[in-house]
Amino acid sequence: MSAEHDGRPGPPPEPGRAEAFAARLFTNLLLSPLYRRYVDEMDLRGDELVLDYGCGSGAAARHLAKRLRPGGGHLTCMDVSERWQRTAKKALRAYPDVEFRRGDVRTLGLPAASFDVVLVHWMLHDIHPRDRPSVVAELARLLRPGGRLFSREPTAAKHGMPAARAREVYAAAGLCESLASEGRLPIIGEYYRAVWTRPVG
Ligand SMILES: C[S@@+](CC[C@H](N)C(=O)[O-])C[C@H]1O[C@@H](n2cnc3c(N)ncnc32)[C@H](O)[C@@H]1O
Repeated sequence: MSAEHDGRPGPPPEPGRAEAFAARLFTNLLLSPLYRRYVDEMDLRGDELVLDYGCGSGAAARHLAKRLRPGGGHLTCMDVSERWQRTAKKALRAYPDVEFRRGDVRTLGLPAASFDVVLVHWMLHDIHPRDRPSVVAELARLLRPGGRLFSREPTAAKHGMPAARAREVYAAAGLCESLASEGRLPIIGEYYRAVWTRPVG
């Protein structure tokens, strides 16, 4: 078993009601400025088709939806967990145009090049190492050529994945890294972030 992932292959366990409630308070309220800054830094025009993969409680999605509404863009929130999906729906009540899809992206059969932007925020490390290459390959297929995948992952040994592992998986899916950095955030800890582009042609 990898030290960076202590679960088994397959979907993670459903969170309990108390966990979902606490996460909503923590991520959607306390950490809201941090998520807002991250979404601001994505520098979206506002007319993009965006997938938030592993959207959890909707902490990033709330800011994405706000950003996309005036420009006519469209947000799809996807998560394998029923509880997280319900929590995200509550958090995004004010945005009826947001689409919710529940499941593992590999099984949903979406058309290729469906999205301009994919966000994978604090979730790749939660996927078993065995499943990561096929999940990321599918996300790369869903990006239009020239489209961008935004990634941020914790890198602490206790809970996270090494930046080199994340890089390996995205590069193996044919994506090209830019704007990569590593840093440390209060409360959250060490992280790796990057923008990955699907090459044109
Ligand atoms: C740590 S949470 C991060 C949530 C959110 N992206 C954020 O930054 O707050 C990880 C999320 O990924 C979801 N998840 C884990 N494995 C998944 C998979 N194979 N497909 C879709 N979602 C998955 C979990 O249900 C959970 O909501």
